[in-house]
Parts: sequence; structure tokens; C-alpha cells
Amino acid sequence: MTDLAAELIGVSKRFGPVLANDGIDLAVARGEVHAVVGENGAGKSTLMSILYGLHRPDAGEIRRDGQRITLRSPADAIRHGLGMVHQRFRLFPDLTVAENIVIGAEPVRRGHLDRAAAHRAVAALSEKYGLRADPSALVRGLPVGVRQRVEILRALYRDAEILILDEPTAVLTPGETDRLFEVLRTVAATGVSILLVTHKLSEVMAVGDRVTVLRQGRVTGRFTTRETNANELVNAMIGRSLTPPAPKRAQPPQENPVLEVRDLTIHDADGVARLSEVSLSVHPGEIVGLAGVAGSGQRELIDSVTGLRGAVPGVFLAGTPVLSGRDPRVAYVPEDRHGRATAPGMSVAENILMGAQRELGSRWSLPRAAVKKRAKDLVERFSISAASVDIPISALSGGNAQKAVLARELTRPSHVVVAEEPTQGVDVGVRERVHALLLAARDEGAAILLQSSELSELRELADRILVLYEGRVVAEFQGDAHETDIGRAMTGATE
Ligand SMILES: Nc1ncnc2c1ncn2[C@@H]1O[C@H](COP(=O)(O)OP(=O)(O)OP(=O)(O)O)[C@@H](O)[C@H]1O
Ligand SMILES: [Mg+2]
Repeated sequence: MTDLAAELIGVSKRFGPVLANDGIDLAVARGEVHAVVGENGAGKSTLMSILYGLHRPDAGEIRRDGQRITLRSPADAIRHGLGMVHQRFRLFPDLTVAENIVIGAEPVRRGHLDRAAAHRAVAALSEKYGLRADPSALVRGLPVGVRQRVEILRALYRDAEILILDEPTAVLTPGETDRLFEVLRTVAATGVSILLVTHKLSEVMAVGDRVTVLRQGRVTGRFTTRETNANELVNAMIGRSLTPPAPKRAQPPQENPVLEVRDLTIHDADGVARLSEVSLSVHPGEIVGLAGVAGSGQRELIDSVTGLRGAVPGVFLAGTPVLSGRDPRVAYVPEDRHGRATAPGMSVAENILMGAQRELGSRWSLPRAAVKKRAKDLVERFSISAASVDIPISALSGGNAQKAVLARELTRPSHVVVAEEPTQGVDVGVRERVHALLLAARDEGAAILLQSSELSELRELADRILVLYEGRVVAEFQGDAHETDIGRAMTGATE
């Protein structure tokens, strides 16, 4: 018996030319929260996938409780007490919480699902780990944070002794994140080990016991959280420190707003108001932040401003109504990087220059040489790491794909820039770069509407912060307001 729940020893994995994992050693102690951090593309997800039987390593071994094991599939991994909470939840929306948790491992009575036993088991698990979830609720309609809890319960129901979570907080609100961390601490206290992949160093410091840093497929640091600090972790991650955020300007420029929303009200198909009398304006040279818990009307507002909702009355760009479809005067950095933002089958160059046909002198097609040169310039300026501009954009890591989208949107002529969760899932180095790019665009006179679920991001970037709650703008703050005040407004509390 050892106090190590799992060990990865000398694990290597190659994907074509990319050595994603290069002789990685990682030991997970029983009952610890072990954070794994590193730049985009450092090999974190690959390593977790190997431990969950989704990839076979090219070299190295995995041990559980000191014994060497071979994992050919996730089913093997589950048998060995490994559980994984996927970022895209694999739940059945029309089944109940209890059914989702027991599915595939159901308590059976006379050949049928024993519903009562399933409910009892789920209730007992919820109780034991402090994971509140109503066993009889349908998964459809549950908030993201609760669905994630169901995923965790599903793994625990299968007796997971090691729980792998790959960027679990990317989809959560700050409040949900806090609750998740309480749950992780409770679960770890029962002896379950937790592997937590995250880009947010504040989370590592808040919930991690130990942390392993990866860089370009190798381990570049091992720390005990109590004995380290964010700066030391950043250095191990990207080989340098971050520069402190630029000070905010005292006075936003007073010019006519380029984006104006006046009394915008939007009802959904069932007649429920999703936005009520929302008014806001964004001036050249200013970043207006949008805060709010998920589902407070951000989606409807952004879709209205970009023209994606059609020509809604009350949205004006430079004094004229927004155009339906996708108004070309709006530069848009969508949250859904892979769906809305990029054409996955097309090259990096084509993706970066999409929409720039006219500028490059051709109405119908892009002249090849000019395209390539311009794309290369942008790749350099935005420090996008890509083997070449001719590879498909889908081959880039998440962070680099995001920089490519920013390169396209921030360099094309537009009236307003709408940025939605611009640093979700990107590493600290990229985050710093993205922030610098947005601030530079603002200083050059861009009008930017920034939606972010990260209050620290809004406070670093925004000149003003508007808080949406149940479809209304319930508060406006200066960019340097206290997080607690903004957070309180996000819950609908009024003074
Ligand atoms: N299935 C695959 N096929 C080809 N290359 C892959 C595959 N999976 C990962 N890679 C490459 O391996 C490297 C490591 O990727 P991985 O997804 O493990 O990084 P990561 O640390 O999880 O990054 P991120 O922080 O962006 O999630 C990257 O260069 C990536 O492009
Ligand atoms: Mg990853």
C-alpha cells in the first residue's frame, strides 16, 4: 500500500510532428487536489486523456495503488477507479438526474431499473459529498453548475477514486465556481484524489494542494501550493513574468456614441421577456463591460447588437439601425470560437483574412500572394504560433485560434468591437496578449463592448461596467469598482 493513488511515469505521446507529452512523471497522492497548469498546447488534456484511457501512450506507464495497469478504453479506466468530468457534458437532457447518474450501472430489480434504489443511491451520494441535486429533476433546464455536479456524481457513483476535471470552471459563473471548489474539497476529504486542469492561477491557489506545471510536453515545475505564488507558477508556465496591467485612463473621451441601444425589449418564443428596456451606449475609445450571471440577457443583447437577431428596433450604429444578418460594421469575437468564429476546414490565412476581400483588391477571390503576405504579417503581429498559414485553422490550439480571430476582427474596419469571453480557455500569456490588444485598440479609438464572466477581466479592461440581471441593466459601475459590489448587483440585490 502506498499513499499514491496514481502515477504516470515517463509518459510520452506523439501526434504526427507534435510531441504532446515528452517523458512526463506525475504522482497523485490520495485525497489531494492536484492542479495541472500550462500554456495552451502544453499537453495537459493529452495527459489526462491518457490517464482516462482515451489515448494510448507511446511510452511510459501508469500505476494505480503502486500496480502497473494498462488502459485500453475509458471503460478500463472506470474499472480502475478513474472518473472524468467532461467539459461538454455527456448527459441525457430528457432523463432525470438520478437516471443520468446510474445509467450504464443501474440498480436492477426483476429486470427493470429499480427507480427507488436509484433515487436512494443518488440521495445518499449527494448527502455524503454535499453535492446538492434533486434526483427527480430533469437534466434539461438545470443550470450548468448543477449539470456539472451530476457529472461528478456519476463518476462517484462508479466509485471513482481519482476524479479528472479538465477546465471545469470555464463554463461556470463565479458563484458556481466557488460551490464547485467547496465540493472538490469535500470530495477530496473523503480520500478521493482530484486532478484539476485550469488556466486560472487564482483557482490553483484557492483549491490546489500541489501543482504540476507543463510546458511544451514536459514538466517544468512541481510546487506545493502553500509554498508558491502565482508569479512563480507563471514563470514555470511561460518562462517569464506577466507585466502588470496598464493603468486605466481617468477620463473616457466624450464623443458621440458609435453604438447606441435604446429601450431594447426582446421576448422569447414563449412571450417571456429576455431583455427589458435595455439602454446603453459605447463611445469611441472606450471599453464598456457587461457583467451578469449566465442567462441574464447577454446572449440576446449581443445577438441584437451584431445583427444576428435580425433588424431589431432600438439598436443604432453611428446613428443608423443595425443591419440584419451580421452587420459588417460590427467586429465580433464570439465565445463559440469554433462554431461562429472560424471556418474549421479553411486555412489559417483564409480565416484571418475572411471579409477582407475588398481591401485586398478583389471582389470575388483573394489574390494568393497578397493574402499570404498579409496573413503572415498578422500572424507575427498577434504572435500566433502556427506551423504555417496554410494549415487548417482547426489544427491550432485554442489559444492560438483565439488570437487568429482577434487578428481578423481587430484589424478590419468596423464601428464597434463586440468581444465575448475573449480569454476563456486561453493561457495566462495569451490572456495578457489579448488584453493588451484590446486596450491598444481602445487607445486607437475603437469602441468596445466586452462581455465576460470573469470580474477580474472586466475590472482590468473596462472603463465602465454594466450589470445585467434578468434582462435589465440593474447597475452601472466605474471600471475599478469593487468585485463584491459588482457581484452583489449580479445577484439582483439592490441597495
Ligand atoms: N488528437 C490530436 N491530434 C493531433 N494533435 C493533437 C491531438 N491532440 C492534441 N494534439 C496536439 O498536442 C499538443 C498538446 O495538446 P493538448 O490538447 O494536450 O494541450 P493542452 O495543454 O490541453 O492545451 P489547452 O490549454 O489549449 O487546452 C498540441 O500541440 C495539440 O495541437
Ligand atoms: Mg486542454
